Amino acid sequence: MSILKVAKLGNPILRESAGKVPRQEISSREIQCLIQNMIETMREYQGVGLAAPQVHESLQIIVIEELAGTKGEAETPLTVLVNPSLSVISERQFEDWEGCLSIPDLRGLVPRYEQIEVQGYNPLGQTVRFQARGFYARVIQHECDHLEGKVFLERMRNLESLTYLQEFSRYWQKEEEE
Ligand code: NI
Repeated sequence: MSILKVAKLGNPILRESAGKVPRQEISSREIQCLIQNMIETMREYQGVGLAAPQVHESLQIIVIEELAGTKGEAETPLTVLVNPSLSVISERQFEDWEGCLSIPDLRGLVPRYEQIEVQGYNPLGQTVRFQARGFYARVIQHECDHLEGKVFLERMRNLESLTYLQEFSRYWQKEEEE
């Protein structure tokens, strides 16, 4: 396994629409290796999610994992999705802070749907379909945006809450915990 280089904002690959992975290719060495390396890379940089375009592969693959439940919610188990698609269960949205490995050191408040249904393939090429809510649903929406060439900045209502990480822990995180 290897740790991959993460594309930063400004790299055109982050603005491309990622291609679908043909189902029969999911089991190939290349795709399995890419998935393993994406997991390794996400863990190395302590991200809660990573999309293939962030590691310079314009393919519809996302990985998600949150070890310590920082949001007071259950841990997010390792999720790998190929060609994911989302549908909205309820129009209700909630705002929360997001960051991105491709936009280092920034945080911003982003509205997301609270409850979604997700469909896609797992790494075995099997169809999976499940509902997600809260923080888990947020991360899935964030990662799926990457597959369409979008980043969280475009999803913010406005840029007023855009904050450097240092100021985030100084002015915002504290307030949340109190
Ligand atoms: Ni991101």
